[in-house]
Amino acid sequence: MYKIQPRLTQHAKSLAQFLHRATMSSLQSVYVTRPDVDASGLELLRKSCNVTTWSQALPVPRDELLRQVQGKDALYCVLTDKIDAAVLDAAGEKLKCVSTMSVGFEHIDVQECKKRGIRVGYTPDVLTDATAELTLALLLATNRRLFEANKQVYNGGWKSWAPMWMCGQGLKDSRVGLYGFGRIGQEIASRILPFKPAQITYTTRTARPEEAAKVNARRVDFDEMLCLSDFIVICCALTPETKEIFNAEAFEKMKPNCIFINTSRGGVVDQNALYEALHSKRILAAGLDVTTPEPLPLDSPLLKLDNIVVLPHIGSADIETRKEMSRITARNILAALKGCEMEAEVI
Ligand code: DGY
Repeated sequence: MYKIQPRLTQHAKSLAQFLHRATMSSLQSVYVTRPDVDASGLELLRKSCNVTTWSQALPVPRDELLRQVQGKDALYCVLTDKIDAAVLDAAGEKLKCVSTMSVGFEHIDVQECKKRGIRVGYTPDVLTDATAELTLALLLATNRRLFEANKQVYNGGWKSWAPMWMCGQGLKDSRVGLYGFGRIGQEIASRILPFKPAQITYTTRTARPEEAAKVNARRVDFDEMLCLSDFIVICCALTPETKEIFNAEAFEKMKPNCIFINTSRGGVVDQNALYEALHSKRILAAGLDVTTPEPLPLDSPLLKLDNIVVLPHIGSADIETRKEMSRITARNILAALKGCEMEAEVI
């Protein structure tokens, strides 16, 4: 009896391994382009799918993505992955869904996906509050010169309290222009309101009178926003229409005290023109959470300026937000693989 038991155990182990392999090969397969997305999303997928992930906490190299996506049923990606026809070709016929852990989806060739019947999922809404909060933090860090002032504490620049030292431009009685007035824009406006601006304006293709009424915002055209705003806050999506819309001509129209804040996408701005506007003091200051490229090279002339605050694209970087983004990305995949309605689908 004592001799038989190890053999039985061995048989049981082999059978279990065989069954595991058989089950895994019959499961639908998902490729995840980062290993460091919150585990809760990966766990959801692993309950019913065969999940493989890129091994490093860095953007997956293009050739690795093209290799790994082959034969997969779904792709879980992030905003640093360019998902174009070549990736879809490499994936092949089985690919049913591309799900991005972001609200922005300009890195995905959505038309090409649609042509092939591949559904595209994304994560709107969940990050609205986190992004609006970060926008306010960036605006306040820029207008009240927080980083510049903080440096003085460490480098000996703080000699004594001084009447006009490190003064900034307050929001009170100012004119704030929002370029874009979707979910994030509206939340930014509602957070700016308690600071008592004179007027909040918004510039969009379509009027949003009901949403605007809640924050006393007035719709203005692009030129009026440029010419009259003390603060310009960018909260639009990057599209062919908005690409580099903030160019030299736009900066030329701004007031010299204008503070320019961008938490949407770097591509909305002609960065050389922004540099010139800041360097020549054509405008007062800028706060950027997004740049082109990302990361911004350490020798970028923007980083030599003292009237700019640059953050490393952390708009949605709130722990609970990022966890839920991971789960929504997973749930979008599970729904698409079952042929059900996705939680958020690009249509
Ligand atoms: C997005 O989701 O598009 C943000 O830029 C990062 O979370």
